[in-house]
Amino acid sequence: MSFLEDVKQGLKNNPKRIPSKYFYDEKGDYLFQQIMNLPEYYLPKMEKKLLKTYSKQLAKKLPEGTINVLELGAGDGTKIVILLKALINDTKKLNYFSLDISESVLRSNEQFIKSKVPNLNYEAVAGDYLNSLLKYSKIEPKLLVFLGANIGNYDLKEAQKFFKFLRSNCTLNDSLLVAFDLKKNPREILAAYDDQAGITKEFNLNLLKRINLELGSNIKLESFAHFPNYNPVNGETNSYLISLEDQEFKFNDGSVFQIEKFEAIQTEVSKKYTLKEINQIAESSDFELSFKFTDSNNSYLLGLFKPV
Ligand code: AVJ
Repeated sequence: MSFLEDVKQGLKNNPKRIPSKYFYDEKGDYLFQQIMNLPEYYLPKMEKKLLKTYSKQLAKKLPEGTINVLELGAGDGTKIVILLKALINDTKKLNYFSLDISESVLRSNEQFIKSKVPNLNYEAVAGDYLNSLLKYSKIEPKLLVFLGANIGNYDLKEAQKFFKFLRSNCTLNDSLLVAFDLKKNPREILAAYDDQAGITKEFNLNLLKRINLELGSNIKLESFAHFPNYNPVNGETNSYLISLEDQEFKFNDGSVFQIEKFEAIQTEVSKKYTLKEINQIAESSDFELSFKFTDSNNSYLLGLFKPV
């Protein structure tokens, strides 16, 4: 579906919603880079520390010989570089396939990875990573990698579906590495999505800016508020844009939408998982969680899954 179709369908929904994958235009990529450097946004720091501490051990858990790493949603390459270095030092022949929806991000990815790990074979694959994986699923043995707690954009049911899809593109020789942000102090979680500097607000509002730019709308950005909310029961952070007035906006195909004062548009789910749920996901998709690496507070988890 096109951006226009996805947005129109999402706005017909109750509650109104816009898929979070549309955050990432050039401006959105840039704002997300800034988010990753925010003091409140703890996720990349935790992930980096775990990768630094455990990449060597992780490399030992993979089959000998050539390894094909397929990273889904690779971004700028800074997440995976530590792992790639460990894999190549483990005398493995390394092929790295970098899958991402953003071509501009893939250009920095290529430059960065090639400069940091010059001995690997590099291939950039632009496009929706689910479609790209279908095309590359014959490659074996592979390590599928999904870092950055991107799995949080799926709720529990969707995560199960996603794992089943990954499993259907794996053989018994393959492995899967996924990073999960875990449930923790609700205030710490909420602060990560409501930073003092207002970058996350700008990131959220950029979605409407993109609609204005690409779909010919004239939405007033000042008439929307950024509102993140963490539910400690199901572990979901939901980010919303709240309309501050009754308003109407149109798209370049002539269609018109109304939104009421204080009505919400849901823009993102960032789910925080429990170990129990992670095991549940594995079980329901014919994977087993064969190794897990966490920090001493159990705040973040790297899970290595094997097909069963
Ligand atoms: C890239 C999906 C992991 O949900 O934490 C950061 C995106 N949104 N701040 C997340 C995001 C607002 C991020 N993920």
